[in-house]
Amino acid sequence: MSHPAKTSTTPKLEPAIIVIFGITGDLSARYLLPSLYHLIKDSLLHEQTEILGITRGDTTTEELFQKVELCVNEIDKVCDPDALAAMHEHTQMFQMDLDDAKAYEKLRQKLDAIEEQKGVCMNRLYYLSIPPQAYLSVIKLLGSADLNDSCQHNKASTRLLVEKPFGFDTASAQGLINETSKVFDEGQVFRIDHYVAKETVQNILVFRFNNPIFEALWDKDHIASIDIAAYGKIGIEGRALFYEPLGALRDLIQSHLLQILAIITMDQPDVLDSEHIHAAKQAALDKVQPVPADQVSELAVRGQYEGYRDEVKNPNSTTETYASITVYIDSPRWQGVPINISTGKALNERKTEVTVTFHNPPDPNSNRLRFRIQPNEGIELDLVTKKPGYVQELQTTAMDFTYLNDFARDGHPSAYERVLVDAVRGDHTLFATSEEVLASWRVVQPVLDVWSKQSDDLLAYKQGSGGPV
Ligand code: BG6
Repeated sequence: MSHPAKTSTTPKLEPAIIVIFGITGDLSARYLLPSLYHLIKDSLLHEQTEILGITRGDTTTEELFQKVELCVNEIDKVCDPDALAAMHEHTQMFQMDLDDAKAYEKLRQKLDAIEEQKGVCMNRLYYLSIPPQAYLSVIKLLGSADLNDSCQHNKASTRLLVEKPFGFDTASAQGLINETSKVFDEGQVFRIDHYVAKETVQNILVFRFNNPIFEALWDKDHIASIDIAAYGKIGIEGRALFYEPLGALRDLIQSHLLQILAIITMDQPDVLDSEHIHAAKQAALDKVQPVPADQVSELAVRGQYEGYRDEVKNPNSTTETYASITVYIDSPRWQGVPINISTGKALNERKTEVTVTFHNPPDPNSNRLRFRIQPNEGIELDLVTKKPGYVQELQTTAMDFTYLNDFARDGHPSAYERVLVDAVRGDHTLFATSEEVLASWRVVQPVLDVWSKQSDDLLAYKQGSGGPV
């Protein structure tokens, strides 16, 4: 095999102030700060970039970096002293009470002062890494303090980055979208779905549309079923406040996994650019049939791992830590093909993958195409082959593309690095539009409604097992 290829390069970014609301939180420690460290280490951010961490308390930068494993994404897990020093130099903390309108005035002065000191216009990114219940109030207060304005510093852009969940059901998502649009234009809003930013998920589009041999088979006449699964070994790991009002259906299926479904089933756009990809995804999601309320007991399963209730200190919790639904697409291309979507925590394996099973294989295990999103990212096709020897014995083997074999290990951006770079350069392709978010809520809404009224179908499962039986 040839040498692993280098990954593609990144365009030069503009100077930016990345304002992180909730910098001391779990998401920031796990994903954002290690990603920012890596981007700084690889000199991908403009040298004038500044990170402003918003915190209620009086945590200093030193204290923050002592608690966070900044170099967890590095191959050797070792920090580079120069990169670390640069990260310190470009990060500062700003203490404010998120409910205090006056604090937002001070924030504006702070941002103006940073720009003045640097002598350049900077893109301003407000990253909401805070409990979703607080989004609306923060967005409104940003607006009241004119922090939404793109023109205050001439040329640069102001952007809002929001983590999922966007709302808790169809109605609240619509409310959040309406209220946000009074403060930020749709073009300023970047709704993060970090699964879409994972390399293998992006590769699904390239695989489908640049290898016509597969696109020719991409319909109900050739595909029997599609399985989209995201399983984790870990539980909720202390995130009770975040997880308890959500559950697995809202946390992963409504967002990440329905985005993947759209990418797997959408029609080929005329051009592979942001506008056309979003239009094609939107059309795909609009055709997904919401799970019918009277079929929820057949088409949806939920479970909760044993010990969860103690963890969240709620003996009556009915929050599901495992969920699966089967949906169908109402289109001539996909009529009758079941799409099974499942996710769970505290299971016996960590695996996120999409399996496309073709019709009538000679061996039931053959002719499956698998997109391995994590771990061991790659794409594999199961094929029946003859075992070497004098007798006609068959065996299923895989034709396997594995990132680790074909690409250099260190050139592969993590999903959050990609999210941050794309937000700084204003590329919306990998972010969810308001219409996609609403279409996804509509698919799961009947299940949410039925589950909110009953709980006798919540199945207990053992931690470390394969999920509810
Ligand atoms: C988040 C969910 O969006 O994705 C978490 O809120 C989940 O519950 C996480 O564990 C999984 O992300 P990844 O990239 O580690 O698979």
